[in-house]
Amino acid sequence: MSSYRIAMVPGDGVGPEISVEAERVLRAAADRFGFGVETEWFDWGCDRYLADGAMMPADALDTLSRFDSIFLGCIGDANKVPDHISLGMLLGIRVGFDQYVNLRPIRLYPGVPTPIQTATPKSVDFVVVRENTEGEYSRQGGLFHPDSPDGFALQTGVFTRKGCTRVIRYAFELARRRKAAGYAGRVTNCTKSNALNYSMVYWDSIYAEVAAGYPDVQRDMAMVDAITMWFVKNPDYFDVVVASNLFGDIITDLGSMLQGGMGFAAGGNIDPERRHPSMFEPIHGSAPKYTGQKRVNPIASIEAMRMLLDHLGETGAAAAIGDAVAAVLVAGEVRTRDLGGTNTTDEVGRAVAAAITTGKA
Ligand code: IPM
Ligand code: MN
Repeated sequence: MSSYRIAMVPGDGVGPEISVEAERVLRAAADRFGFGVETEWFDWGCDRYLADGAMMPADALDTLSRFDSIFLGCIGDANKVPDHISLGMLLGIRVGFDQYVNLRPIRLYPGVPTPIQTATPKSVDFVVVRENTEGEYSRQGGLFHPDSPDGFALQTGVFTRKGCTRVIRYAFELARRRKAAGYAGRVTNCTKSNALNYSMVYWDSIYAEVAAGYPDVQRDMAMVDAITMWFVKNPDYFDVVVASNLFGDIITDLGSMLQGGMGFAAGGNIDPERRHPSMFEPIHGSAPKYTGQKRVNPIASIEAMRMLLDHLGETGAAAAIGDAVAAVLVAGEVRTRDLGGTNTTDEVGRAVAAAITTGKA
């Protein structure tokens, strides 16, 4: 019997309550599909920062490297620690484990309302591949005489040949696999080379180099501003979108609205070479004001757990989680407030877990 060690890092705000539901679903899937799971919880986050001056211990990456995968709840509480400091923890794990792909599936489950009229379960089914270790998030720059009238800030993007090539190649490999499964087989390059005359021109040239090796996959390009428009106007057009770190961040928040809101959007921070554990998370924030109220939607976290199991190769269990989520959403009987319901976070988690256990999904 396979057995997996999963590090649970619930984080701040509503992180613990949604992580409990992700674990509940994980256990239901493990029981039904006959594999073992061992979880260990880490109380890293803003409270720890207030007590010890660090979001996580200095040897946190060593600790995490002993796990097969990491589940992350959500990080940050601006009333306790400034966001640019607390979020260093998230970025530190992404970069420290060289999780260079941030995989964000954009799918709309039947039965989920969305504010975007063009969005239907049929029209919304694509994937954003976001670069996750460099680009605009490289944290290079400085403040120069910030208090003087001539003060300025400089923030530099770093786009390496290696970094661009590997993420674009991942997108093409994914599009090739999706084509085999009946999708269009197209990689849209999300760029801004009309204005960013070094970084994005370089990115585009590497896109063209990589694309040359995939004649079976369609090439495509859209400026990041235009892509936000096309996501809304023609979501059905998209198959795989590859984007730099910041652009991928921005367009996936729009993507989440196509999915019905932040309560549904999950992502994986992936090291495709599997040198390090990959990390899966809902992409929403920690909503500190709702802490402990059990009112937020746990589906995004459950989706993150589904992706985690898929990555570990437990594809049957992952599919069963997807089916169970779909069944609960279509039935519409157990719904959190974002869906107009009155149920609590744990009631939704229990409903999904029950649907996995009974296998009726
Ligand atoms: C995300 C988040 C993070 C990011 C923040 C919290 C640093 O918005 O995962 O999308 O920008 O990557
Ligand atoms: Mn974001």
